[in-house]
Amino acid sequence: MPMRKVEISAATSIVVLTGAGISQESGLDTFRDAGGIWARYDIDDVATPEGFRRNPPLVHDFYNEQRREAAVAAPNPAHVALADLEKAWPGRFLLVTQNIDGLHEKAGSKALFHMHGTLDGFLCEACGKRGPWAGDMSTASACPLCGRDGALRPDIVWFGEMPYFMPEIYRALGEADLFLSIGTSGTVYPAADFVREARQAGAVTVELNLEASRRGHGLFDLEIEGKAGDSVPVFVDDLLEGRLF
Ligand code: APR
Repeated sequence: MPMRKVEISAATSIVVLTGAGISQESGLDTFRDAGGIWARYDIDDVATPEGFRRNPPLVHDFYNEQRREAAVAAPNPAHVALADLEKAWPGRFLLVTQNIDGLHEKAGSKALFHMHGTLDGFLCEACGKRGPWAGDMSTASACPLCGRDGALRPDIVWFGEMPYFMPEIYRALGEADLFLSIGTSGTVYPAADFVREARQAGAVTVELNLEASRRGHGLFDLEIEGKAGDSVPVFVDDLLEGRLF
């Protein structure tokens, strides 16, 4: 079946999903590649609410290190190309990232949801509020809002917790004409299911990844293999020049 046409028009909406692969060329490790973060740390210890209750200093150290690395990292051409696409696209555009680094913002992206939270935020378990955070966090850190200390956690969505912005994301997927998945292994739900949601809504689905993800196989109309820093700028250019669909 020939691929559906994607008009470059105010009526055409794009939803983009990114994962750790888009930040790899900015020097930030992915999770599941060889030597990746989950090869060095146990998910149960550092990415679950139970792990945090068991050993808060271990979890704070883990995210403090990531926050320091992300603070000095710079966006790469893939981040920049998506910010340019957002600015140039005449229709609706939404960027949903699973990443907790701030590289999309640094590249200029605005219509952006951090569905798994962000390193640059705190969540207070005493007052339940969230807000911006910079620097190291520890069990002694006081909540900037309620003043209570010892109740702060990084504003990260851990396994077993509900990601942020889900109603808005599902609404956008239900209205998408083009869905792009960039630099994600498609192993973590609900993000791994977004391609199916978009496809059911009639969207053209495209994967840009180092290697085509096995799970998404058959769900993508187009699979572009390669480093995101190379493939995304070319794809965005071709899309905006009407050379693709
Ligand atoms: N360019 C494009 N893709 C790349 C690059 C690159 N330079 N380097 C690696 N990749 C691909 C890998 O082949 C892999 O398919 O990026 C993907 C990264 O997959 P994961 O490490 O599983 O990261 P991600 O999909 O973002 O993980 C999802 O899992 O650990 C949790 O909450 C965490 O948000 C994260 C979620």
